[in-house]
Amino acid sequence: MTASMKSPEKSESLFKRAQAVIPGGVDSPVRAFGGVGGTPRFIAKGEGCQIVDVDGNKYIDFCMSWGPLILGHAHPKVIDAIQSAIKKGTSFGAPTEAEVLLAEKLCRWVGPVDQVRFVSSGTEATMSAIRLARGYTERDLIIKFAGCYHGHADYLLVQAGSGLATFGTPTSSGVPADVAKSTLVAKYNSLDSVKTYFENFKDQIACVIVEPIPANSGLILPEQGFLQGLIDLCHEHGALVIFDEVITGFRVSRAGVAGKYGLTPDLMTFGKVIGGGLPVGAFGGNKKIMQKIAPLGSVYQAGTLSGNPVAMMAGLATLEVLESENAYSQLEKRGAAFESMLREAITLEDHGVAMNRVGSIFWFCLGGKQCPTDPSAIAPQSAARYRELFHHALDNGIYLAPSGFEVGFIGLAHGESDLKRAVEVLADGIRRLPPLEQSA
Ligand SMILES: Cc1ncc(COP(=O)(O)O)c(C=O)c1O
Repeated sequence: MTASMKSPEKSESLFKRAQAVIPGGVDSPVRAFGGVGGTPRFIAKGEGCQIVDVDGNKYIDFCMSWGPLILGHAHPKVIDAIQSAIKKGTSFGAPTEAEVLLAEKLCRWVGPVDQVRFVSSGTEATMSAIRLARGYTERDLIIKFAGCYHGHADYLLVQAGSGLATFGTPTSSGVPADVAKSTLVAKYNSLDSVKTYFENFKDQIACVIVEPIPANSGLILPEQGFLQGLIDLCHEHGALVIFDEVITGFRVSRAGVAGKYGLTPDLMTFGKVIGGGLPVGAFGGNKKIMQKIAPLGSVYQAGTLSGNPVAMMAGLATLEVLESENAYSQLEKRGAAFESMLREAITLEDHGVAMNRVGSIFWFCLGGKQCPTDPSAIAPQSAARYRELFHHALDNGIYLAPSGFEVGFIGLAHGESDLKRAVEVLADGIRRLPPLEQSA
């Protein structure tokens, strides 16, 4: 630990109190540091790329609230937008101009989206998009990919059954086996695994939902032709394609992965960046499909706080800054600089480390010289070694996501000196990793 870091006594005390009244002491499981051990840091404040914990320790943050804070913490324009919106009231349960403005911008930016509906989380977005796909196609089954995360709706907490081409089985207790059976689990980057389901369940599959660049089980890259092949295959069989761009939307390009590669999914889901750090999700797509939602159509979907005016203004301010600062070339530049500085400082592969990066999203695979092409194929040693790297980084003022399966986020607030400092610490941490063969 660097001399300037204090022992996390206040975090420990708060964690103890939290555990008495909140299950596991946290409101979302991965925050509990279960994957890396130790005490989660309770955060007092953030500014730019920095967070400060309750003990006064400062960290350069690469978790960034798991992705939303593309502009950094407490960006003045976002805070101004929130303050001026909040003075007018926090919620009306009636339409406001703010949601029209954000919807107009979103539809302008994202080609495949003619119409959009706002919700309050990514989970709600994917759940609603899937209900819409089922209602539109009048079919019940869905396909997801092993290792892709789409929020915590029952039928999305499912893993492959015994061998592909069978029904899925629940990954969480509380999910009825019958519900899990409506989900078929395919292998990412394998069109054959999807094809087999279409052959075995003819005219029964409503949609395929995919993280087009999976970023919840490491960061996995799509092989050439996989995503377009998936769209073609679905359409050939009368099914819809949903790109879940909750992480990648407004992050890898202003129109997400769809925009980056010029693809046209039928529906898309968003969250994170679009709320500027407030609870917002959205789903949208082809107008003909979107018109099937109530009050126009028969697919019910609703929300007391959906399109909340304060959250809409935070999202709008975020998109306006992204637009005015030529953000996406900046983000690519910073991501590329970070990667090249690190690769200059250390030959990752010599230490059993591989790195994937797409623009400002990065991931270290600590289980070998190459990142896998299937998110369910990450070597178990990777997580054990990540624990070491994570704590080395934390003790030296670099805050990474507390799980080796999660990605890191660079944003517009990370300057050159922040990236340099992170490279120094990470290269040192990688040098100290136990050899692959010794990691449990
Ligand atoms: C790709 C993807 N979809 C959906 C979700 C669920 O979003 P939320 O946590 O806002 O419910 C997440 C959350 O990380 C995600 O990464």
